[in-house]
Amino acid sequence: MTDKSANSMWGGRFAMSPAEIMQEINASIGFDKQLAPQDIRGSKAHAQMLAEAGIITKSDAREIVKGLDQIAAEIAAGTFEFSRELEDVHMNVESRLKTIVGAAAGRLHTARSRNDQVATDFRLYVRDAIDGIDAALEGVQQALAEKAEKHAATVMPGFTHLQPAQPVTFGHHLLAYVEMIARDRGRFADARKRLNESPLGSAALAGTSFPIDRKKTAEALGFDRPMANSLDGVSDRDFALETLAAATITAVHFSRLAEEIVIWMTPQFGFVTLSDRFTTGSSIMPQKRNPDAAELARAKAGRVAASFQGLVMVMKGLPLAYSKDMQEDKEATFDAFANLRLIIAAMAGMIGDLEPNAEAMRAAAGRGYSTATDLADWLVKELKLPFRDAHHVTGTIVKLAEKKGVDLDQLTLSEMQSVEPKITKPVFSVLSVENSVKSRTSYGGTSPQNVLKMARQWLRRLEKGRGKD
Ligand code: ARG
Repeated sequence: MTDKSANSMWGGRFAMSPAEIMQEINASIGFDKQLAPQDIRGSKAHAQMLAEAGIITKSDAREIVKGLDQIAAEIAAGTFEFSRELEDVHMNVESRLKTIVGAAAGRLHTARSRNDQVATDFRLYVRDAIDGIDAALEGVQQALAEKAEKHAATVMPGFTHLQPAQPVTFGHHLLAYVEMIARDRGRFADARKRLNESPLGSAALAGTSFPIDRKKTAEALGFDRPMANSLDGVSDRDFALETLAAATITAVHFSRLAEEIVIWMTPQFGFVTLSDRFTTGSSIMPQKRNPDAAELARAKAGRVAASFQGLVMVMKGLPLAYSKDMQEDKEATFDAFANLRLIIAAMAGMIGDLEPNAEAMRAAAGRGYSTATDLADWLVKELKLPFRDAHHVTGTIVKLAEKKGVDLDQLTLSEMQSVEPKITKPVFSVLSVENSVKSRTSYGGTSPQNVLKMARQWLRRLEKGRGKD
């Protein structure tokens, strides 16, 4: 005898309902309900195409579309009841459609499979996510470029190996991130271009004998064209992988800035302050002001990267075409996007909020013999020493300053001359951090004049919507 609770979608072949654990491991409704808006969009386009191609009647298509609109409204209102017995979002929607419009609902799945359905839904979802992330990234570029314009001449130490290297300007440092984000946006745009083909109509894997019009559904859903191979259509997830790779690189970029904020916030550095809006206190140490938002942004990059790696492992070695393994593509992707959105929003907030402490930065920029390269360059330019010799002379002068416990510009001329007799008084003009940054006028260099020009160029580009090319 047939078990009444056997699945209504394939009850014809199945006599028994699934084991509890089978439902537990199989059901994806807990997370793929997030795909409902895309699922409904896809189904509407499919139904309309079926009617235009004469595969179902116009009145059936109208009923289906009306029913789907009602379902969309129910979901938006939170009144839709998702059921685990119905496994996933596709069957939940279709089953509800049946109770709303009756027999016509049974015709929606003509010339379609959940395999091309889910591939379509997921592409639409990833495309929507890319668009949202791109807009958020543009906002961060704007915030960074504005701050950079304001601080084009604010001197800070530039580091290599986190050791003071040469003075740079704060604006220059911020613009480095504007450049990174431009490439991040470029990567998302690139992934979007390749993603934007429609799998709908691939059916289960082999295509269909119904006279469907794949170009029509592709166009209705904003895709550039239908995918050319039905096997590829249902089994490809590289659009998700590529997007997750772009998300990972973006998150890694933000984790670097987050780390810098953490470092800059320490009393030892004291380069920036964040207001109460982006810091927390300690329940035991009253003096603490902790940069939790920056720390979490830094940490979440690990999570985004893990999502990418997780999906890479899911896809590795999967034979064509569809396998249920691919259901595991969603949670990782949802989680990565949700966390990337959080990272971007928190970083945008912090960038707007943070105030540089110009005195502390300037003082630090002068420490650590950061103008030693300027001294060496002066020896080359003025005394015509070969750079290697100039490097050696400068090293000896630094050693002398170190021994006396003073900065380079605090040495006397005769002390310098004790190392290199030809040195003259004008050498002191290159030893200040201001003159050091001012002299870095090569293209892409840190001179305040360059930085101001670049910041303004970025602001103009952003105004024209050209922040990623
Ligand atoms: N929930 C499934 C997924 O996300 C939908 C596709 C099911 N296809 C199938 N042949 N069982 O992958």
